[in-house]
Amino acid sequence: MFLVKIKNGVEFKVKPSQNLLEGAISSGINLPYGCRSGSCGACKTKILDGEVFHSDIMPGVLTDKDKEQGKYLICRAHAASDLIIEDSRFDERDEPDPQITPVRVEEINKLNHDVIQIYLKLPGVNSLDFYAGQYLEFILADGSRRAFSMASCPGDDLIELHIRLIEGGKFTNFIFSDMKEKSIHRIEAPLGSFYLRESDKPIIFIAGGTGFAPIKSIINDMLRKQNNRKIILYRGARTYADLYEDKAINEWIQSDLDISVENVLSDEKLENFKHGLVHQQVLMDERNIKDYQIYCCGSPGLVEAAYKDFVKNGLPDSEFYSDAFTFAPR
Ligand code: FES
Repeated sequence: MFLVKIKNGVEFKVKPSQNLLEGAISSGINLPYGCRSGSCGACKTKILDGEVFHSDIMPGVLTDKDKEQGKYLICRAHAASDLIIEDSRFDERDEPDPQITPVRVEEINKLNHDVIQIYLKLPGVNSLDFYAGQYLEFILADGSRRAFSMASCPGDDLIELHIRLIEGGKFTNFIFSDMKEKSIHRIEAPLGSFYLRESDKPIIFIAGGTGFAPIKSIINDMLRKQNNRKIILYRGARTYADLYEDKAINEWIQSDLDISVENVLSDEKLENFKHGLVHQQVLMDERNIKDYQIYCCGSPGLVEAAYKDFVKNGLPDSEFYSDAFTFAPR
């Protein structure tokens, strides 16, 4: 038997035949995990002191940077001595380093009257190392940049974007003139800190328009990792015609996720839809806003108003996460 101390002070014992995750679970300690077979990376944990050995893991799940930092997959790691490990539930993650890379446009689809879905492919068999919810920037020929959240999940073969076409907008013109299927572009990715923080708190996601993209990525990532935190998703739009991706929403509702969804329309009154500003609807529905973690992505106006009103109503400002560049160049 070896003794494993978690940095927060909790301890558990592990037999040499057990991996560290099994040892923690059998002592009633919940550390993050997903597949339990060394392939998803959800259980990555830094070993601060002591020795471990790893059984087989899927190539690429632990990056060189992870290894340099002393991280192991605790679902495949066995203790070879007493250990001190980090508390991976509250790890402020080291974001993957951004890279400038070429991408090829694989597919373009229409999601509604003014939003398109673009799939991008990296060279060869590479997939992008990122946290669900992060964004990328296109680097245009004149050096200017446009930022878009990624709607795909880490590990997906293709990067998915949702882009709202704005009449006369520079990037919209670029899409029509230059972004044909099979065309090659340059991006920098991953960027940003809009990703899920470990916590036991229930989550409110607020998606204004194409702010749905990073939230789709985070929710699908939670589904893959069997993360069963309670989720309330608020989608805000002006009219019903502005909403999109109902198929993904229905799949989540029918999945094992603990999720409920509210659609809020500001400019149209429809049966079964709430009417008004999306963040104000959250405040009308949830009396104990202080008990949640809130992730908000949409126009700068939405994010700013939501932050002010939620904090005024008791939400600790450290529990509000946002990205606000979706409708406007930063
Ligand atoms: S890699 Fe350990 S739980 Fe998936």
